[in-house]
Amino acid sequence: MRKILDAIMADDAAEAGGLPIPDSYRAATVHADEVDMFHGLTSEEKDPRRSLHIEEVPTPSLGPGEVLVAVMAGSINYNTVWTSIFEPLPTFVFLQRYGKTSPLARRHDLPYHVVGSDLAGVVVRVGEGVNAWRPGDHVVAHCSSVELEHPDGHGDTMLDPEQRIWGFETNFGGLAELALVKANQLMPKPAHLTWEEAAASGLVNSTAYRQLVSRNGARMKQGDTVLIWGASGGLGSYATQLALNGGVTPVCVVSSSEKAEICRRMGAELIIDRKAEDYRFWTDEHAQNPKEWRRFGAHIRELTGGDDPDIVFEHPGRETFGASVFVAKRGGTIVTCASTSGFEHSYDNRYLWMNLKRIIGSHFANYREAWEANRLIVRGKIHPTLSKVYPLSETGQAAHEVHGNAHQGKVGVLCLAPVEGLGVRDHELRERLLSQINRFRHP
Ligand SMILES: NC(=O)c1ccc[n+]([C@@H]2O[C@H](COP(=O)([O-])OP(=O)(O)OC[C@H]3O[C@@H](n4cnc5c(N)ncnc54)[C@H](OP(=O)(O)O)[C@@H]3O)[C@@H](O)[C@H]2O)c1
Repeated sequence: MRKILDAIMADDAAEAGGLPIPDSYRAATVHADEVDMFHGLTSEEKDPRRSLHIEEVPTPSLGPGEVLVAVMAGSINYNTVWTSIFEPLPTFVFLQRYGKTSPLARRHDLPYHVVGSDLAGVVVRVGEGVNAWRPGDHVVAHCSSVELEHPDGHGDTMLDPEQRIWGFETNFGGLAELALVKANQLMPKPAHLTWEEAAASGLVNSTAYRQLVSRNGARMKQGDTVLIWGASGGLGSYATQLALNGGVTPVCVVSSSEKAEICRRMGAELIIDRKAEDYRFWTDEHAQNPKEWRRFGAHIRELTGGDDPDIVFEHPGRETFGASVFVAKRGGTIVTCASTSGFEHSYDNRYLWMNLKRIIGSHFANYREAWEANRLIVRGKIHPTLSKVYPLSETGQAAHEVHGNAHQGKVGVLCLAPVEGLGVRDHELRERLLSQINRFRHP
């Protein structure tokens, strides 16, 4: 691995692609024989630092259409938090299910799971039939792994019945020194970004892009108002940028004055601090409080000068969904991709049907959408929201912070990269965009 890293550091693409691949590599994993380790604890008490291991694992064989990438950096996504606390179910269930589908997929069904759904790195081997990428290419990877043997996925690959999230529902993820991906997960690394900056955006940026911009999502348009929950978090920090970049007014919801300040730094003006306002949408475990929905709606109108949100960007789920349905504009859209606070949502359906609102379910993004989202970063229109970076050995700590909602934007992980700041090829563009790139770095 040392020789591969040396060649990458010397920016010698041909050399990096021609070197022998080691039989094993360092990776962040969870173990199948530990899935019950948190038995009896609440979600909050389950500590990723206990379940995430850093260890040497065997290098997988390379199948047709696949690529082996030397990973310079990865990032923490909330799916790694879910994997590390074994909720809502251990991800070994996905690996076992996948393993049953073909002899090639059987490689993924192992007693350990290499996690991680983002990477920036260098292609070191391509499998049979891969023509679009070659060893030495600087790449980022999006996380949708599709088989595409079924007709359903050929209009939108997210509809393929064999669509999986790489590093969550498949093995050999990006929080490791090597990663195995399908060639159609690769995209060009933005040349003005460092490895860790480049690795920060893929999953959340693509998800937010489909949710808000794509015709598969809410079809946001100039002049719209969008309510964004968790606006300084992983998804929300990209949703806020996409809104501002698209001529849209974001109403950003956050839970501290520091997070509000970060939203202002992105250019947002309308901000609600849900903690300071002490919104309590639920009176107890079973009942919501419509008075609080109304108070929240009135606050939004006060900020917007009377407008209700054309789109509500949803992901907290149970805790906020009733309020989201209530405050959306007549004819508006609630677009949801997650349920962090609980997946059994309830809302008053009268507000939905009588006001002709729509709820759209959205999940990650297809290759085209991920590519378009990445292109916005390549062109310097959307910026990584990296706030902090850990070495691979401290992946557990990094995931712990995201689990505890103690982070801003994205948390990065250095895999092969020995230090931060490497991998930039377009220094001129970087210089021009530096203050935007660093917005989340100096809270
Ligand atoms: N389906 C998909 O493809 C997909 C893709 C990416 C992520 N996700 C899911 O989306 C969720 C968020 O991911 P993320 O990367 O944005 O995570 P994140 O970085 O933790 O950000 C989420 C933000 O949501 C806010 N939040 C958390 N709990 C809340 C609550 N009870 N009420 C209101 N706001 C709350 C927090 O902001 P404040 O405290 O500042 O309000 C937090 O910063 C996770 O469940 C993740 O698994 C799904």
